[in-house]
Amino acid sequence: MTTNFNEVNRRQQTNCLKWDNAPTVFGKAVLPMWIADMDFHPPAGVTLALQKVVNHNIYGYNFVPDVANTAICNWLHRKYNWQIEPEMIIYNHNVVASISVALEALTQPGENVLMCPPVYNPFFEVPPRIGRNVVFAPLHYQDHRYYFDFDTFEQRLADPLTTAFLFCSPHNPSGRVWSQAELSQIIMLCAQYNVAIISDEIHSDLAFESHVPIAALNTTQATIVTLMAPSKTFNLAGLQAAYLISDNAQLRERIVAIRAERAYPDLNIFGATALQAAYETGGDWLTELLVQLKKNIDTAHKQLSQLPLIEVTPIDASYLLWIDYRQTGISENTLMSELIEQGVGITLGSVYGEEGRGFIRINVATTETLVNEGINRIVAAFTNLMT
Ligand SMILES: Cc1ncc(COP(=O)(O)O)c(C=O)c1O
Repeated sequence: MTTNFNEVNRRQQTNCLKWDNAPTVFGKAVLPMWIADMDFHPPAGVTLALQKVVNHNIYGYNFVPDVANTAICNWLHRKYNWQIEPEMIIYNHNVVASISVALEALTQPGENVLMCPPVYNPFFEVPPRIGRNVVFAPLHYQDHRYYFDFDTFEQRLADPLTTAFLFCSPHNPSGRVWSQAELSQIIMLCAQYNVAIISDEIHSDLAFESHVPIAALNTTQATIVTLMAPSKTFNLAGLQAAYLISDNAQLRERIVAIRAERAYPDLNIFGATALQAAYETGGDWLTELLVQLKKNIDTAHKQLSQLPLIEVTPIDASYLLWIDYRQTGISENTLMSELIEQGVGITLGSVYGEEGRGFIRINVATTETLVNEGINRIVAAFTNLMT
């Protein structure tokens, strides 16, 4: 490996949400294993490109150059064999903003947005902010894995008020990569009931085996908007650069108009520069990152699995462990207090919907030393509560 992911990068006192805001969230300084970002430097090509901007030292109005679109198209083609055209891309400062504009363009106030909890929590928050209802077809948890409950899913789609399905692929919080059969079934059902699919694929590049963009399988007339970003992949969330992809020109026009109405910002010079450089130069770095993440996941998995009554969900993508402690009977409040007492900050499962209660989500994208330390603290917390 040419990248040393075990180098210690102190992030304290850098206005870093994960580290510096932990005392506000948890009531004291803890080892932060909560919010989904990584304690790693980006690929060297990104650093060099950003340094060039800083060395030039002029920060007037910028635009996103065509070569950035080309970099995205090439990346998607190389990684997923998915051929898109540059004009299908619309930039947004982040993925949650993409969810909001896509929903506004595809649905009317009072209509239903379907989602499958447990799921990334802003999914619950965005639709009501713009006057849409949230309806659920909860995922089904069996043998440590989530599956669609296609009967309930279809019932919700059949409601004429349901006009959009907000999809998390790969799945956050469990790291599940959906199979081609599942994706095809979703497309078929959504096309049948004329429900648009908004597919949040921010974690896709972090799949350990293969991820398929749902839009790449669309052989029907299903409406699919894909939301992507280099932010999770290359640890660039603070630079605010994301984009959505739609092959429907009329829909894109509506989205562009809504962005203008809302006065949404375009990408700033740092975000645009980093996005392009990441996709042009970050491939080898990503290969190495995935090796390190897998190692961290395996270490954590092994240690946590030794605890009685605790089950660890296998992960197909990303760096978030999803731990099932329901059999212990411990309540969320009790567990959180003990984890904080032991000095570790995680995310409670009910954040992702009631279906997540009895689970915790643990971020292991840090050095091996800190992963070991954090997992030891989590093991100590469970051990104290179970003896
Ligand atoms: C599924 C999913 N979508 C979106 C986001 C946030 O993206 P952004 O910061 O670009 O809004 C996250 C962050 O954890 C996520 O897990």
